Amino acid sequence: MQHLVDTNDFNDTQLTQIMHDAKAFKRKMPSKLLEDKLLITLFFESSTRTRSSFEVAAKRLGVSVVHLDPSKSSTNKGESLEDTFENLAAMEPDGVIIRHEFNNTPKKLANKSLTPIINAGAGNNAHPTQALLDCFTIMEHFNVTSPHELKGKTLAIVGDIVSSRVASSGIRLFTRLGLNVVLVAPKPFMPDNDLPQYEHLSETIDNVDIIMSLRAQLERHKAPIFEDYDEYANEYCITKERMGQRDILLLHPGPVMRNIDISDEMLKDKRSKVLEQVKNGVYVRMAILKLILED
Ligand code: CP
Repeated sequence: MQHLVDTNDFNDTQLTQIMHDAKAFKRKMPSKLLEDKLLITLFFESSTRTRSSFEVAAKRLGVSVVHLDPSKSSTNKGESLEDTFENLAAMEPDGVIIRHEFNNTPKKLANKSLTPIINAGAGNNAHPTQALLDCFTIMEHFNVTSPHELKGKTLAIVGDIVSSRVASSGIRLFTRLGLNVVLVAPKPFMPDNDLPQYEHLSETIDNVDIIMSLRAQLERHKAPIFEDYDEYANEYCITKERMGQRDILLLHPGPVMRNIDISDEMLKDKRSKVLEQVKNGVYVRMAILKLILED
């Protein structure tokens, strides 16, 4: 049974196939390839992009989608997540898309082998579809046809890296593909790993091809780190002044905190592909659904 708990569930051939299919879908919307399929979405945390993007992708392919709102489900009556999932799986969907606050939830459910699990974001550990759509957006920018052609490019991840599932999945995928990943963050936002680490973007920006800015998730940190968001923005907001004339692709998974993560001016700049990432997310998720649900 094919799951997507993290991007390492896909081998190199499958990764390339997803990028290829997403590109083909972007060029020409396919017919309803998966008309007889049914998905259940289960979002235990808020989402604007991922949930709607999956629903749009599914509907473009003719897949029926049932959304269970956890706040109105029997988890409120004490039913465990495992029991909720087993009851949903008993209805024989073709897959379950889940977002959850705990890192290991998608893996735990996938291990039951009842129905394919697609991870729509778990804790600070994994957000594989975001990593894949980021990969597609980077490939499109550099006009390459294979993800492996990105080898040697330098990606700077800037912001609250330790709290970010986007960063966690991105680091695993992009280092696998041979990109040089560097991390830019204040110490409390920095994860413990072997990647090059910088406290200030100015220390590395001249060597960077891509910047992935992340939301400062101050609410996830127990101890106060900054007086306020302005203090953080003074150092880490991606402004036109910081970018200068450099030819750097600017990404952000959203939601963007304007003038804290990225300035209004930079969001309008042609180097910023934040909304293109959202657009590409639909095509990449269509390609993922095709891979997982097609017989
Ligand atoms: N990028 C992302 O995961 O956004 P949402 O939280 O709105 O789904």
